[in-house]
Amino acid sequence: MLGNFSYCNPTKLYFGENALDNLSTELTKYGKNIMLVYGGGSIKKSGLYNNIIKILKDSGKEIFEDPGVMPNPTVEKLYEGCKIAKENNIDLILAVGGGSVCDYSKAVSVSAWCEEDPWDKYYLRMEEPDNKLIPVGCVLTMVGTGSEMNGGSVITNHKTKLKIGHVFGEEVFPKFSILNPVLTFTLPKYQMTAGFFDIMSHILEQYFSGTDDNTSDYIMEGLMRSLIHSSEIAVDDPKNYEARSNIMWIATWALNTLVAKGKTTDWMVHMIGQSIGAYTDATHGMTLSAVSLAYYRHIMPYGLDKFKRFAINVWNVNPENKTDEEIADEGLKEMEKWMNKIGLVMNIKELGVTEDMLDGIADGSFIMTGGYKTLDHDEIVDILKESM
Ligand code: NZQ
Ligand code: ZN
Repeated sequence: MLGNFSYCNPTKLYFGENALDNLSTELTKYGKNIMLVYGGGSIKKSGLYNNIIKILKDSGKEIFEDPGVMPNPTVEKLYEGCKIAKENNIDLILAVGGGSVCDYSKAVSVSAWCEEDPWDKYYLRMEEPDNKLIPVGCVLTMVGTGSEMNGGSVITNHKTKLKIGHVFGEEVFPKFSILNPVLTFTLPKYQMTAGFFDIMSHILEQYFSGTDDNTSDYIMEGLMRSLIHSSEIAVDDPKNYEARSNIMWIATWALNTLVAKGKTTDWMVHMIGQSIGAYTDATHGMTLSAVSLAYYRHIMPYGLDKFKRFAINVWNVNPENKTDEEIADEGLKEMEKWMNKIGLVMNIKELGVTEDMLDGIADGSFIMTGGYKTLDHDEIVDILKESM
């Protein structure tokens, strides 16, 4: 394990079919004014909304609703949420939904009492909050982002065509998260599989960095194997509790800071994916699947040993009588087979990307330096072309 680090994750998790039973106990820790944040209506269809309202009312809370958080939440929506939170002196933000609802709630948490423009302060200047924060609790309905146990908060600014994530510190992590795998059963297949690849991508972004012998890599190989296994079951049988519960747990551990310890981490696929999202508003996980193979084939020569290890340890590639390049290449081919099998989007055209956008998307992709190869603008354009 390289480097010096500290580890603390302050989010309390309640996991399982009865997880929601713990909400009322958590609510006793906060004041009366609850801001209930949710998305476009899936929680009303599933009946979860009524259950939550009942628990809040039985707990004697005053409810201030903030519905309509869109996938890839926008900066305009953030300003609206800040107004609701401030005007009603909110004591707890209760996020009920997927990563977008959780991310947005964290953004409101740091922004409601912020005297400057939160987009400028947190997303352009990347400053940390120095004002009062509103605590956030989550009831998760979509699996993938890890937002339920991390400080990530991604906001999109369509005017400037920028989608930017700020990874806030422990004080912004949700105070608690309720993870009931059954709540994810109503997800459409497209969202479900997008989430599966989001998980895979989070692991790959952290795995493909460094050359030291690192415990985090072994943990990640286990997480990937479990994800591959359970995702194939879930695609055929979406109500398979065992598979869906495993995947929910993998998603949380894939991005709750643990496996990043001792790693430099890459995140270049996410930077390109986010920029595609800013141009197309496409589903996050699919922006990652559509560029990943081109990206990993591009950087493979610079991290060959790790790609070889990935092929053998994650994809069971038999290394006998093969060169390192052949082994590594076979690993990526196995990944491609799995991606096709679970039904991911494999090109950016399908997401609405056109040739004239490629330069702009490359410009909007922040360059990361923790992976095996630091890309330049032209390399990103090449990867995008390859992904068309
Ligand atoms: O809005 P509703 O009606 O709830 O519908 C949502 C939405 O349309 C639907 N959905 C969610 N749960 C459902 C359901 N439909 C039926 N049944 C359910 N149980 O699914 C759609 C997508 O939801 P969304 O929250 O947008 O998906 P996801 O969880 O993938 O979140 C995506 C956002 O998270 C950011 C992404 O960039 C994107 O903005 N990320 C956050 C990260 C973090 N906090 O660390 C890291 C990630 O890499 C990612 O960037
Ligand atoms: Zn992601």
